[in-house]
Amino acid sequence: MTENLKPKREAWGTRIGLVLAMAGNATGLGNYLRFPVQAAQNGGGAFMIPYFCALLFLAVPLMWCEWAMGRMGGEKGHGTTPGIFPLLWKHPLAKYIGAIGVLLPVAVGIYYVYVQSWTLAYTFFAVLGKYAGIASKEGMSQFLSNFQGVNSAWGVSETAYVFFLATMAVNTIILMGGIQKGVERVANWGMPVLIFLSIMLVIRILTLGAPDPSQPDNNVWNGMGFIWNPDFSQLTNSKVWLAAAGQIFFTLSVGFGMIQVYASYLRSKDDVVVNGLSTTMVNEWGEVILGGTIAIPIAYAFFGPVGTVEVAQGGAFNLGFATMPLVLDRLPMSLLCGTSWFFLLFIAGTLSQIALVYPGITFLQDELKWSRKKAVAVISALVFIAAHIPILGLRNGALDEIDFWAGTFGVGLFALMEVVIFVWIFKPENAWKEINKGAQVNAPKIFLWILKYVTPVYLAILFAAWAIQQGPAVLSMEGVSGQDAAWRWAARLLLLGIFAVLVFLIRRAWKKQEVLP
Ligand code: TRP
Repeated sequence: MTENLKPKREAWGTRIGLVLAMAGNATGLGNYLRFPVQAAQNGGGAFMIPYFCALLFLAVPLMWCEWAMGRMGGEKGHGTTPGIFPLLWKHPLAKYIGAIGVLLPVAVGIYYVYVQSWTLAYTFFAVLGKYAGIASKEGMSQFLSNFQGVNSAWGVSETAYVFFLATMAVNTIILMGGIQKGVERVANWGMPVLIFLSIMLVIRILTLGAPDPSQPDNNVWNGMGFIWNPDFSQLTNSKVWLAAAGQIFFTLSVGFGMIQVYASYLRSKDDVVVNGLSTTMVNEWGEVILGGTIAIPIAYAFFGPVGTVEVAQGGAFNLGFATMPLVLDRLPMSLLCGTSWFFLLFIAGTLSQIALVYPGITFLQDELKWSRKKAVAVISALVFIAAHIPILGLRNGALDEIDFWAGTFGVGLFALMEVVIFVWIFKPENAWKEINKGAQVNAPKIFLWILKYVTPVYLAILFAAWAIQQGPAVLSMEGVSGQDAAWRWAARLLLLGIFAVLVFLIRRAWKKQEVLP
């Protein structure tokens, strides 16, 4: 009887589908572009120790919390944090704090979709040989800015805009399929292709040796040393610790309120401990082994140690869309290498973008009882319209502004709030029971202690350091020109506007239901 009263929710079809979808969520442009840049900018070997600390003390415990919260919420018909937090904390504020867990991923999705569309465009460019023959870094960067259209009247080229439209269409079609027929189907097909293409590129690069015989030290093996030889002298540098934690959050999609959404489509009996850990490991393997081995060693082999750091200073987009096509173009079978590189980025980007907008869709379905089709249509339209701010304001820093607020500031704050709510307010023993419910192997007991003390303190210190180090400069828009400031304000107002709409929708939805506080 009560069975029938429960809202019917979708569920993942198979366990492998679930793991691939979760791994596809995490594996994205962060793995192939952001990670190598962060590692190189932060001294290579110096980066890896703080990186693994953040993985062990922040990401793994948070991952288990988010999976457990999601499964628990899903059982009660709530897949997003506005519906989940009130189950853990019986306070009227809980649902509004939860709204941040819908805002953050959707905000990232609003600019991520544009970068995703570049990977689609460059896949075509690689196949058609559009950039073939450009022989210098400067030439490739020029090609990239021409494609983006940053110097044109509108700040976007027609080509870039058309690919953005095409990408929106692809994403919307996948989303219309829902969990099993959309996300899971694409992940089942995309992840194996992604892994195959990555391994192919890794083999190609590892067999490269030293491309310039007159400079035998510039070879891939020294490139591996550059990233892997630990540099303990950097451990006192707080900037490196912040960058490492930021990268861990971004690449694992953890701390945004996102994992809960996919996890809410688990069945009650499904394991969280082993599944959560396996998807984390798939992503880390894809980041450190595949992502790290592709970009850094090849850059090192062609440009040497100083050049690699220079490339990294140019940022993730320059690495992915200027340096990589340049060096891949010099290899034998350049067409195949270049196409594989961009197509694998497109798969990784697509699976992540789908995940980024899913919280919006699930929120509308669960809390406003909208049909999937209507929810997808509205969220796609929102992303389409809002994306014009990072697109038209790309040259004015609008994309970076959204990335700072959602991807650095927001995630630090939200991660801290969710651990406090799940572990302390919901009570440590309840949280631990929820995590280990149905577990094939229980989580090691030491993680309960880590969750109670280490993770929240670690997060609080990081958040304070972020706020002190970067907050004032960002808030006051230090050194930002008038026109750029206008775009950055547009980006901020967009985020505030979405938050206001969420609060309004939550208020309305809660008036109709008498269960949640
Ligand atoms: N993890 C993805 C990447 O590495 C990006 C991503 C997916 C993401 N879902 C997210 C980032 C949620 C923030 C929040 O590219």
